[in-house]
Order: sequence, then structure tokens, then C-alpha cells
Amino acid sequence: MANKSVGIALLGCGIVGGGVAAILRDQRELLRQRTGISFDLRHVIVRDPKKTDRLAGLPIGTDAMAAISDPKVDIVCELIGGTGVAAEYFQSALKAGKPVVTANKSLLATRGPELFALARKHSTCIAFEASCGGGIPIINALTHGLVANRIDAMVGIVNGTCNFILTQMTRNGWTYPQALAEAQKLGFAEADPTLDVSGRDAAQKLAVLAGLAFNATIEEADIHIEGIDKLADQDFKLANELGYVIKLLAIAERVDGARLVLRVHPTLVHQTDVLAEVSGSFNAVSVYGNAVGHALFYGRGAGRMPTASSVVSDIVNVALGTTQLAFKQLNIFPDTSPKVQVRPISELNSRYYLRLVAKDQPGVLAQITRILSDQKISLSAIMQHEVNSGQFVPIVITTHLAREGSVQKAIAEINSSTAMSGPAVCLRIIDQPREFAGL
Ligand SMILES: NC(=O)c1ccc[n+]([C@@H]2O[C@H](COP(=O)([O-])OP(=O)(O)OC[C@H]3O[C@@H](n4cnc5c(N)ncnc54)[C@H](OP(=O)(O)O)[C@@H]3O)[C@@H](O)[C@H]2O)c1
Repeated sequence: MANKSVGIALLGCGIVGGGVAAILRDQRELLRQRTGISFDLRHVIVRDPKKTDRLAGLPIGTDAMAAISDPKVDIVCELIGGTGVAAEYFQSALKAGKPVVTANKSLLATRGPELFALARKHSTCIAFEASCGGGIPIINALTHGLVANRIDAMVGIVNGTCNFILTQMTRNGWTYPQALAEAQKLGFAEADPTLDVSGRDAAQKLAVLAGLAFNATIEEADIHIEGIDKLADQDFKLANELGYVIKLLAIAERVDGARLVLRVHPTLVHQTDVLAEVSGSFNAVSVYGNAVGHALFYGRGAGRMPTASSVVSDIVNVALGTTQLAFKQLNIFPDTSPKVQVRPISELNSRYYLRLVAKDQPGVLAQITRILSDQKISLSAIMQHEVNSGQFVPIVITTHLAREGSVQKAIAEINSSTAMSGPAVCLRIIDQPREFAGL
């Protein structure tokens, strides 16, 4: 294989960019042996060139536009993040006909179709493996490895911060504020964790992944989102007694032909489900294809080196020309696929976990079961711990499959009862897929 040089401009050299620079330096010979290509870092653009915690000898600068237009730059790697200057540089690179490698799921989730169309207009491409799932090659799997499949469902743990917090609440019995403080201390959560704990980060990733899996253009607004910040520690204990753990799941399902249900919310997952074992900052995505069945992708969902691993994989595939071919041929990217048809969450069929705090007095349970029965909700289990008569006591109910709209109506009626202390807690339960049961 002929030895050729490919010039790279790295826009951003923080957590991920620093990792990319390290791999390009430390694995230079390995990459050259494998590909016949020398990957040459021509520019490293940062905001503050005086920072001292960077690799020595990098070609550091601040003029992104000069780096993008340098004729010796073949690939622009956008690792600044956000939707501000990153978008500006992204567009400039595409307009110059240069492929862009990015880890920026916020930008793709908000302006994906426009940027993909711009890339196509200028006969170039966008590579974005690192935008979802950190080091897990899930985008490559969806666009290449599973291309023979009609995807029926995708269920993922795609936010490491939330998964770390929920794992601490499950295993140590911590409250949400305690678990969040620990995540911040260990660097798993930002000082402002809102994007993560609100479920929005997971939704942005679901928009990208489900778009590829279902050939649909999906925006964050198409997704029903509930975060983890209102979860109470006692629900983790009660879920455990019932054999479940609580996970923030990002779920996309084909429900009736073309329509999808798209949702991100805390979910009870049975302890025997493989996703229940995904702990700490790890991520996992279960994909259900009509030919492959269930395929599980598991690994580190963020962090310097795992994310850099995906970025460098994209750089190599762009340098080899395989990304350009896929981008040109495959009709799966947001600008080439139709707008998603969403089935509203009120039409969801799911099992539910309800925790009600009711006065321990005659007739209360009968009243609750009557309200549920009126909405055609049938019960799977009822759990109540013994207390002195007249006190308020948690009653936990799990249901068989029920319609979300009916469950919300029943909850509204239950909440209005004077026998209740505070609003009911309602969490959805996901059952493990049939093909896994009994294995
Ligand atoms: N961190 C992760 O684990 C992870 C995982 C998956 C995806 N991502 C995505 O990867 C991207 C980068 O994240 P990160 O964690 O590496 O961010 P980061 O550590 O904050 O690094 C951002 C870099 O961009 C530079 N920068 C910021 N504003 C700039 C500007 N106006 N002009 C030029 N350079 C500018 C910063 O310069 P200075 O160094 O001078 O401040 C820094 O080098 C984001 O899109 C993020 O969502 C991150």
C-alpha cells in the first residue's frame, strides 16, 4: 500500500481533542502500518493557547478559519462542542469541500439535516461515530454491520452520568443529591448537570441513533423526555423488592408499521435483564433487527480515550474513502430520510409501577383498585408494608400492559382522593424481550 499523508486540523483540544492528539502521536506507526497512511496533525485550534496541560509539541493556534482553509488540511475534526462557533467552523469546512469528523451530538440533533445537506451539496461528508456512545462503535454497526436488518426496536443506556447516579442509588441506597454530589466529585457529572439529568442528552443521542436505525429524520422535540432528578431513593428499594432496578432508558420502537414511539425516562428493568447489569458510567445499546435478533453493544460511553478511539476511527475511514462512499450511497442520513411519524406517548402500551401513599383505613385499597379497573388497568402485583392503623403507608402496584392515557387518568383521580398523601409516583416497566426469556 502506498504511503500517503493525510493532514488534519483539530478544532478543540480539551478532553476528547487531547485524546485524539495522543492517539495520533502514540499510534502513528500502528495506523501507518494498518492503513498505509501517515496522519499528520497540521493545526490544533484552541480558545486559550497559554494553557499548559496539553501534549508538548502540538501545532497550537487560535485561527480556525486559516486552519480550515490550509490546502494541507484534508480532514477537519470539530471537537469544540455546542452549537455556537462549532457550527460556524463546521459549515466553513463543508463549504470548502472538506470532510468533518465530529463528536458533537447537540449540533447534529439540532441542525443535523441542514449540515448533512450542506455536506452533500459540496460533495463531502460528515463522520460522527463519537457523537453517541463514546467508544462503542454503534453508528458503524447501524450504518454497516446491521444494514441488512429492518430494525424493530432500540433500547439504550446512553448517558453515563445518569447511569452512574442511578447505580449509586441502587447499590448504596443513596439519595439523588448524594449520588449527584459523588458523580460531580469524581468528574462523571458537570458542575451544571441539567443537560444530563433532565434526560435531554440521552434524547439528543436517541435522535441520532434512531434516525439511522429507522431511516427517519428525528428531532429532540419528537421524543418524550423525563429525567432522573425527581427520583426518590425509596423507589429504588421498593423496585428491588419486586426484582427490578431503575435505569434511564432511551427507547425507540416501531409500533404500527411506520410510526415510532420515542421516549427517554427512568424505567424499571428486571434484575435478570442484561441492561440491569450495565453499571457506573458504562453505556449499552440493545438493537433488535428482524434478521440478527438481539444485538447488544456495550462499553465506555464517554471519557477522553474511549471517545477519541471513535474519533480516530472516523478519521481513518474518511482517509480511506469509505465514509465518503457510504455517505453518497446510503439513504439513511437525516437529509435523505423522511420526517419521523411519532405515536404520542398517551398511546403507549406499557407496564407500570405505581407508588401511592395512602391512609391505612378500610376501603382505601378497594377505592384504588376500582379507579384502576374503571380505566381497564389490570394489576400484576400489590405490595404494602404493615403500619399502625390510621397512618399513611406506601402501596406499590405493578400493572399488566395498559394504555398510558388511561394510567394518567387513573392517577389524576387517585391523586384527588383525600385518602392520599401527595401525588402518586408512576414509573414505566420494560419487560425483557421474549427471545431472551429463559436463556
Ligand atoms: N468529554 C466526553 O467524554 C465526550 C464524550 C462524547 C462526546 N463528547 C463531545 O465532544 C466534544 C468536545 O467535548 P470535550 O469534553 O472535549 O470539551 P472540552 O474539554 O470543553 O474541550 C473543548 C475544546 O474546545 C476549545 N474551544 C472552546 N471554545 C473555542 C473557541 N471559541 N474557539 C476555539 N476553540 C475553542 C477549548 O479550548 P481551550 O482548551 O483553550 O479551553 C477546548 O480545547 C463535544 O461536542 C462533546 O459533546 C465529549
